[in-house]
Amino acid sequence: MTVLYTGIDQLLTFAGGASPREGAAMRETGLVKDAAVLADKGLIVAAGARAGVARHPLAKKAEKVEARGVCLPGFVDSHTHSVFAEPRLKDFSMRAAGATYQEIKAAGGGIISSIGAVRKQAPKAMAEQLAGRAEFFLRCGTTTIEVKSGYGLSLDSELKMLRAVKAAAKKTPLEMLPTLLAAHGVPPEFEGNSQKYLDYVTREILPAAIAEKLAVFVDIFCEKGYFTPEQTRVYLKEAARLGLKPKVHSEQLSNYGGTRAGAAAGAISADHADHVFAEDISAMREAGTIATLLPASNYYLGLTRYPPAREIIEAGVPVALATDFNPGTCPCWNMQFVLSVACTHCAMMPEEALCAATVNGAWALGIGDRCGALTPGMRADLAFFDAADYRELCYYFGDSQCRMTVKGGDIVFGGGPAKRGTK
Ligand code: NIG
Ligand code: FE
Repeated sequence: MTVLYTGIDQLLTFAGGASPREGAAMRETGLVKDAAVLADKGLIVAAGARAGVARHPLAKKAEKVEARGVCLPGFVDSHTHSVFAEPRLKDFSMRAAGATYQEIKAAGGGIISSIGAVRKQAPKAMAEQLAGRAEFFLRCGTTTIEVKSGYGLSLDSELKMLRAVKAAAKKTPLEMLPTLLAAHGVPPEFEGNSQKYLDYVTREILPAAIAEKLAVFVDIFCEKGYFTPEQTRVYLKEAARLGLKPKVHSEQLSNYGGTRAGAAAGAISADHADHVFAEDISAMREAGTIATLLPASNYYLGLTRYPPAREIIEAGVPVALATDFNPGTCPCWNMQFVLSVACTHCAMMPEEALCAATVNGAWALGIGDRCGALTPGMRADLAFFDAADYRELCYYFGDSQCRMTVKGGDIVFGGGPAKRGTK
């Protein structure tokens, strides 16, 4: 099927370069006014000025969609924990009453409190719940997400979570890339012995997930009370040797060394980075590791400290933005909210934030060569917004202005022309 999305007021193509964007290149949006995008068989064949795209030989027979508004590559949300059975409302009330994330964990909340319901949940119900959540992402203009396991922490339950991702992916157009996060915490069966648990993960869970081709990435939570930098380095290296791409939760609650450990293991991204110092930033730079910032989790936890995005960008490390959607630190799937927090609390420019949520998100998932930008040959994953200027996407917050989402050339949410000047 050939579709011409036309009459777009502002199109951000992010054209140029076949690598993650760093430094000033993060501000190059490839803005085209009065634009069109021509998609054929799920791929972009032309994107740019309306008149030029209309002259493409395939444009004549294309179905025409008058889109208007702002169009950008569908958001690539490269860090989510979208499989979980129940929200953590008790943790929420405790936090509202002033408890910190660490205090909530000490009182029996936190990651471990999510495992009971996950272990009990039937596989079919788990997959259906995830497929339902996929709709929320599509409604907000997100076309690809990464999904982690990590709330089972046993062989059966971790594999069940990853199988749920595979099963849910057949029920929704949202693309989901799976990550094994069995090293998310130490389950009660191994309490007080993180190494014994990690040995079990390495011996049992990791090979089983790989044998069933259930994961693309591997991740570990490197933090005091979870896993050490040395455990992180050794575990990620072993997982990489077996064929998974390493990621790491690092420097979220303290400066602990996870970012450097991840970089030493060749991590594709180091995520959170709230407490990174210059040496952590240099390690990412040297290893080609992307810094994935998750500032909506800082917002939700009521923290005053946010990741030092300016320092990271100025050091030449590519920055990606993601939601971190999860029941404990960020019950939010709306990338537009992340854009707002990134600009307001991390001093990112709107252009940088939009690049981080699209192009660099795609590179943080190793798929920047096929999505995240709108150039011929890339997948036709598009998000259309009710806005006259792309900066409005970072400016208005709390709601989504997404009017239509297109995945692989097909409309998967909304439709009809965007409205301008309605606010
Ligand atoms: O990215 N820090 C580790 N993992 C999640 C939180 C998980 C949870 O509390 O359920 C995060 O913030
Ligand atoms: Fe996370």
